[in-house]
Amino acid sequence: MRRCLHTYKLLILLALLPFTSYAVDMEEIAEGGRIYDKWWVEMELSKPTTTHSAYPKAGKQTGANTSRCKECHGWDYRGREGAYSKGSHFTGIKGIQAYSGGSENKVFEILKDKNHQYDKVMLDGALKTVAKFVVHGQIDMAKYIDAKSKKVNGNARKGKTLFRDNCADCHNKDGRAFNLAHDDGVTEYIGTIANKNPWETLHKVRNGHPGAEMTMSKMHSGGGMGMGMGMGRSWRVGDEMPAMLTELNEQQQVDLLTYLQALPKK
Ligand code: HEC
Ligand code: HEC
Repeated sequence: MRRCLHTYKLLILLALLPFTSYAVDMEEIAEGGRIYDKWWVEMELSKPTTTHSAYPKAGKQTGANTSRCKECHGWDYRGREGAYSKGSHFTGIKGIQAYSGGSENKVFEILKDKNHQYDKVMLDGALKTVAKFVVHGQIDMAKYIDAKSKKVNGNARKGKTLFRDNCADCHNKDGRAFNLAHDDGVTEYIGTIANKNPWETLHKVRNGHPGAEMTMSKMHSGGGMGMGMGMGRSWRVGDEMPAMLTELNEQQQVDLLTYLQALPKK
């Protein structure tokens, strides 16, 4: 009888094992997503001062931003085939979708090749983390976001609940707790960003936003006070915006994004 019980316990343990390692991996994939977004902020490294050597001469961007993976390969990971197929972010460079489900090692090598030369600015550990994102963290955003209208096809009603439970405690019920714009004189809220660039917003919902930390002034402007009446999670100064990759499934992330587009734009 006793032996039976032990076997039973062992079986439960073995059954749970894949889930625990899965959860840990998701954290790392999301971190890789934030490196993809803006590696020097995520890794606390110095901001590049020059335009990336692989950035095409005909491109319209200059300086540090040209070193962000997203600048050449897009928020939708589709490069010239996706949202960056035209406009001020066009580079003509292909996407990274071919490596979704591919070899992490191969991506790691690509990041050190002549085009990228990321081994000059980041340690191997960071490169392996972003490679994990490339291989395991991509989704096919074209399934959910209409390229022309930018409208998202999820369920806004379900998204509303998810917003209240996961976001409103920091951003308030209307997404306007604090200004998210990076330029002086500009005001942007969650509703503004979700409508302007749903691909970027989905990437950030899944992976988090590099350096998004609650500060004293954000708390004072009404954020982080549990005003959203969510699950009653209380946030403190220094807390970071969580990555939904570890909390919600893909359809829920899309439902959430659909609701974000219904929030006030100004
Ligand atoms: C300044 C532009 C630029 C930036 C920034 C950039 N890449 Fe690239 N990347 C390229 C070019 C150019 C290629 C080669 C494309 C080709 O072969 O047509 C490439 C190829 C790739 C490929 C192989 C795609 C394929 O299907 O062959 C992967 C994966 C990749 N990059 C990942 C990344 C990651 C991850 C980052 C950020 C850490 C990054 N890249 C940043 C320009 C860039
Ligand atoms: C712990 C508090 C916290 C939570 C919870 C939180 N955020 Fe944030 N969020 C922040 C902070 C801080 C910033 C950064 C503002 C800045 O750049 O100064 C931010 C930034 C953003 C941005 C703007 C990114 C950009 O491009 O500048 C979006 C969009 C966003 N959050 C959406 C969400 C959504 C959706 C949720 C729920 C899934 C969420 N946030 C949950 C604190 C939080």
